[in-house]
Amino acid sequence: MINTHVDDDARSDSSYTAMSDSSIDRFPPRSDSSATSHDWEMRSVSPAPSVYSMTSSLRQAAYRQEYGRGLNNYSDVYSLPADEEELQRLDHQHRMFKAVMGRYPPPMTEVLQQDQTEEKVVVDLGCGSGSWILDVARDFTHCNAIAIDLVPMQTLDLPPNCRSEVDDINLGLQHYLGAFNVAHASFICTGIRDYAGLVDQISNALRRGGLIDLTEYNFVIHDGNKQKIDVPEIKEGEEVTGPWLPRWMSLAQKAIRTRGGEVEAADHLARWVSDHGAFENVVHRPFWFQASPWNTNTDPEAIRQNEIAKVMREDMLQFLKSGRPLLLGAGIPEDLVNKVEANATQELREARTKLFILIENVYAQKRQL
Ligand SMILES: C[S@@+](CC[C@H](N)C(=O)[O-])C[C@H]1O[C@@H](n2cnc3c(N)ncnc32)[C@H](O)[C@@H]1O
Repeated sequence: MINTHVDDDARSDSSYTAMSDSSIDRFPPRSDSSATSHDWEMRSVSPAPSVYSMTSSLRQAAYRQEYGRGLNNYSDVYSLPADEEELQRLDHQHRMFKAVMGRYPPPMTEVLQQDQTEEKVVVDLGCGSGSWILDVARDFTHCNAIAIDLVPMQTLDLPPNCRSEVDDINLGLQHYLGAFNVAHASFICTGIRDYAGLVDQISNALRRGGLIDLTEYNFVIHDGNKQKIDVPEIKEGEEVTGPWLPRWMSLAQKAIRTRGGEVEAADHLARWVSDHGAFENVVHRPFWFQASPWNTNTDPEAIRQNEIAKVMREDMLQFLKSGRPLLLGAGIPEDLVNKVEANATQELREARTKLFILIENVYAQKRQL
């Protein structure tokens, strides 16, 4: 039987060091960074043996401009930006989650222990700015670190054991059969058509004993009692009302669904991994975050949560802007997007409405037999 452990109050011991980590600097793109091609014929074999050159024309072809932001040019599903502004948001977000959730899932160090039998390989599926996989490459120098995304990683100083590959995960991971010791994915559900299918693909891409590590958000906002806020449908001719962040998220959910992304993946991660026969030692960790520093208590824990929430609020404020191409591209009228965005921004800045965000993390190991 698969043992699913639910850690109700999952929280790392690491004290919160908001945004002080400047180890990941951002640089303008270089013209010769490594990447494989998006095209199926040119997709890397398992595991990719060589580094492919990304020419500046290929790099240019990777992006398109929409609604004032730079988006990936390959996927019709993923419609959040891939520009400098978004990459910076992702770097900051990564530091916040790392401080709260811990640097890596607990079994990772053991799974990646150096041994004589094989070279350990880690993949970050939908790496974004690459913060996580760069941490891995620097912390585990004996491992190979592979970053996959719809656009090439922009970092200039890729460590020698780190490679950036351009690929659409929706095309499958068949070319990575048994290639990885760790497969990590965080916040990619907006670009994934069939997430349960992805879990299955990962089960084949992992080696025995390998670690799957998934983190997702379902674009739902909870009230001060951690109850889901249901936002009524907007009816023709009726005034649109708040609470506004939940309202904005409901528009985002609709837009993601319209594009074909699996917006509710976070709700099902634990079941998909537990029910999949390939995995054991399944651990489910829900993490609650205040959306803004609304806690009026003065005890140390309330103060700590407010500190984290200040960072979360900045992330959310940026995310409201990042979401414009997603919402507008899905046909949501601009005046509605503007109104909801402006009110949600005000709601977050005022920090009077008690709102929670739930982030779901699931990790497990591929069975030995
Ligand atoms: C919200 S960002 C998260 C980035 C990173 N995982 C993090 O946690 O900071 C989602 C990333 O997933 C990538 N992505 C989404 N769908 C993808 C797909 N089908 N194939 C490859 N990458 C995808 C996007 O291009 C984007 O960089």
